[in-house]
Amino acid sequence: MTIKAPGKLEVVCGSMFSGKTEELIYRLRRAEYAKKNVITIKHKIDNRKSYSCIVSHDGGQREAYPVSSCEEGLQALTALVDDQTVDVIGIDEIQFFPIETVPIIQRLVDDGLRVIVAGLDLDFRGEPFGIVPRLMALADEVKKLRAVCLSCGEEANFTQRLIDNQPAGYYDETILVGGQECYEPRCRLCYQIDVKPYLHVSQTCSV
Ligand code: TMP
Ligand code: MG
Ligand code: ZN
Repeated sequence: MTIKAPGKLEVVCGSMFSGKTEELIYRLRRAEYAKKNVITIKHKIDNRKSYSCIVSHDGGQREAYPVSSCEEGLQALTALVDDQTVDVIGIDEIQFFPIETVPIIQRLVDDGLRVIVAGLDLDFRGEPFGIVPRLMALADEVKKLRAVCLSCGEEANFTQRLIDNQPAGYYDETILVGGQECYEPRCRLCYQIDVKPYLHVSQTCSV
């Protein structure tokens, strides 16, 4: 009887400009050195620097399959990763993927694959971003990276969205693809948002 190797879910998260994509590329490259069969996936929405590559802010890059959030996109994702020869899967910008992606990832890990996802843990409001908190809870390993606050030079956990150089409003759209022209890393003290409702009704839990 052959004993199956256990799978693993690794989450690399943090603010923008904290080196998430760089870390993902590093881990995937090391897996290739170890002769693993690696597949890289990105979300179609983020075509800032390239349509078919993940690109870090430091210029590192790697070929990736662009996948969209629609049903066909997730079917394409399942078809890609269901290839029996794949050992390691890297997914960048995981915050853009829909909730249906979570059971797909769980099944892959249960099947013995190493899945490494990278993405924003917090949105521009400073609130948990999409499926990332759920994946952090399910993960075997979570690495939270920090950037450098552009205002004061301290460690930055937050991503400040700036529209015409002013802090974006709390009720602005969650998704706005962009880079330095509308986002910068900030520490807790320098980060600004107009409203801060600490607790939403949907987040309360009753016993
Ligand atoms: P990055 O973490 O690789 O730099 O990219 C994050 C992407 O997410 C970038 O395109 C901007 C986008 N984004 C949003 O859509 N909403 C947000 O609240 C934040 C902070 C970023
Ligand atoms: Mg990135
Ligand atoms: Zn600061």
